[in-house]
Amino acid sequence: MQREKSALHIVGLCGSLRKFSFNRGLLLAFEEKLPEDVKFTLADISEIPFFNEDREQPYPEPVVKLKELLDSADALVVSTPEYNLSYTAVLKNAIEWISRRSLGARLAGKPVALMGAAIVGVGVSQSHLRDVMFALNMNVLNRPIVQVVNAREKFDSEGRLTDAATQELLGKVKDELLAVLRYP
Ligand SMILES: Cc1cc2nc3c(=O)[nH]c(=O)nc-3n(C[C@H](O)[C@H](O)[C@H](O)COP(=O)(O)O)c2cc1C
Repeated sequence: MQREKSALHIVGLCGSLRKFSFNRGLLLAFEEKLPEDVKFTLADISEIPFFNEDREQPYPEPVVKLKELLDSADALVVSTPEYNLSYTAVLKNAIEWISRRSLGARLAGKPVALMGAAIVGVGVSQSHLRDVMFALNMNVLNRPIVQVVNAREKFDSEGRLTDAATQELLGKVKDELLAVLRYP
């Protein structure tokens, strides 16, 4: 079935809260690849408190906002740096909240593209994240693999992507994700 073009919405989740984060820059560069009629929203996870089962009823407002944003998304793009050979605590914390059954986020089967930028490598962090996405029963794209290393050489001082090869790779992610979403 062909979709209404205007109905597509992709949400970006960034594993770094740093103002000039390379991963944020990667997501914003991805957004620029999207056709004009595909909406992109970068989620704000900076106000989400540490997960605590005692605080689930009612859920904190930033968690409910994130849930609603994710529910409105046809697909997610997650970009995270590698911290000590895993992905970041802020991202894991957000995932723990949104994974809770009583919150009711509609994640199962949702396509998700993973990417990451760091200094040395992001392969291990992506592998860990992939395992967690499996637990959430999300539909992780296997290709293209986006692992941006030596990030200081590929982004400017304000986190804007400057590397042509990575730009090209993001175009392929866009093509793959839109194909999964049967766009146009
Ligand atoms: C606690 C911590 C652990 C890190 N561990 C790694 C690592 O395992 N591998 C790596 O390539 N970079 C590591 N780094 C460096 C990050 O890749 C670098 O800070 C990167 O810019 C973070 O991404 P961002 O620009 O999106 O914030 C680490 C940084 C921090 C703060």
